[in-house]
Amino acid sequence: MMTAMPSFPLLSVAPMLDWTDRHYRFLARQISRRVLLYTEMIHAGALVYGDAARFLEKHPCEHPVALQLGGSEPDLLARAAAKAAAAGFAQINLNCGCPSPRVQKGAFGACLMNDAPLVADCLNAIAEAAPDCETTVKHRIGLDRQTEYQPLADFVGTLARLTPVKTFVVHARNAWLDGLSPKENRDIPPLRYDYVYRLKREFPDLNIIINGGITDNAQIAEHLHHVDGAMVGREAYHNPMIMADWDARFYGDDASAPQYDTIVQQLYAYTCNELHSNRYTTLRHIVRHSLGLMHGLHNARIWRRMLSDAELLKTNRPELILQAWEAVQR
Ligand SMILES: Cc1cc2nc3c(=O)[nH]c(=O)nc-3n(C[C@H](O)[C@H](O)[C@H](O)COP(=O)(O)O)c2cc1C
Repeated sequence: MMTAMPSFPLLSVAPMLDWTDRHYRFLARQISRRVLLYTEMIHAGALVYGDAARFLEKHPCEHPVALQLGGSEPDLLARAAAKAAAAGFAQINLNCGCPSPRVQKGAFGACLMNDAPLVADCLNAIAEAAPDCETTVKHRIGLDRQTEYQPLADFVGTLARLTPVKTFVVHARNAWLDGLSPKENRDIPPLRYDYVYRLKREFPDLNIIINGGITDNAQIAEHLHHVDGAMVGREAYHNPMIMADWDARFYGDDASAPQYDTIVQQLYAYTCNELHSNRYTTLRHIVRHSLGLMHGLHNARIWRRMLSDAELLKTNRPELILQAWEAVQR
């Protein structure tokens, strides 16, 4: 059995805008102690000029958390990275995979894959500004209809040569920048896991983390024969209990899988505290991320229905969580 913590996180929950906020991350952390959690993508400018405290807020139990930055100006990214480091984030990740038109207009995200030297400047600026955090990058396997492997290897090779970055998170499909919505860009361009496996073979000293389309633990186990880690996005959101046996199965921890009842009680206590101490937080802000918690259970529908009922949520009473759990068990 494995006992030592791997030197880098094997498994992570993907950065997801509007989904992986601190409330989701709290819930995920109740299910796995080990998984690396990511923030949503935060634009460097928003951290530097905006309400940084709001973006950087996290519960102490969430650690380790990677903060994902969007942007393409090295100086701005450096200033944002310094703030993230001071706030205790474990890792800073640069987004080179987002295809949204808004992001393209700002000349960051996936279109950065066309400019590896600029990405290198950005990563070096982040690494220098936040020397105690690991700097990583998340990207696609290519852009638009280009299907060759070599441009991907050149991109990774350039960054490996010019920067101290060792961890590459690879969403195993292209980003089509011309005409697909961000949602379609997560489903329509075909998955090519073989390209990610090949990267690991050709760059054995890098940590290659595979992402895209993973929906169960058998798939994770298979990927781990070829690469160093796996990142799960939508499945970890819609079915967070997929993470319940990750610590034991993939990290060799002795701890038994978390029980639903314990998770619900922790969620309830957290919600009481949040509603008491943070006047901007509502019950809905928190429970909307737990609708998938009972996925696969006989009465999952009841949980989902009660916690998304506008009338019930309006009362803003955290007891709704306990009532929904009781109804599930009945
Ligand atoms: C709602 C949503 C928001 C996303 N936001 C981000 C983001 O902020 N940064 C990012 O790098 N990827 C983002 N992604 C992409 C995911 O990180 C991930 O690469 C993608 O969903 C594929 O993984 P999956 O098939 O396991 O979901 C988002 C995905 C979803 C579903």
